[in-house]
Amino acid sequence: MDIFQMIKSDHKKVKDLFKKMKGKPKGGTRESPEDIFPEIDKELHGHMEGEEKLFYSTLEKEDDLRETILKNYEEHGIAKKMLEDMDKMSKGDEKWMAKLSVLRDVVERHMKDEEGDMFKKARKVIKRDQAQELGKRFEEEKKSILQAV
Ligand SMILES: [Fe+2]
Ligand SMILES: [Fe+2]
Repeated sequence: MDIFQMIKSDHKKVKDLFKKMKGKPKGGTRESPEDIFPEIDKELHGHMEGEEKLFYSTLEKEDDLRETILKNYEEHGIAKKMLEDMDKMSKGDEKWMAKLSVLRDVVERHMKDEEGDMFKKARKVIKRDQAQELGKRFEEEKKSILQAV
């Protein structure tokens, strides 16, 4: 997979995890948000670090993308702070659930923006060979980050 496909597949994984928590439990198949949270935490952590290191660092040098990428770093900062707070709070209570809902909004909008405008502009900068190479490095990077957690 190239880096665009890797990022998209990560986004889907996170969206699916959020979806899993939605709605009323049916026949005990729904996992509780507290149970799913560590997985979301881990996925997002590895994803954001990999993205910053291999994707944003290349794109932030481009005039056309600078503003978008700086905004994206800020949004990652918000998500990281929220994850950190949520990790320390008593999971599953109403304040924690409120944070979870805001986190979901922030993260899903961020991912949508990335796949839209940012991808469009990034495809002009990152050519096919480089996208493949970055995809490989993204995967390795994520693996090593997740192993260290
Ligand atoms: Fe991102
Ligand atoms: Fe992303």
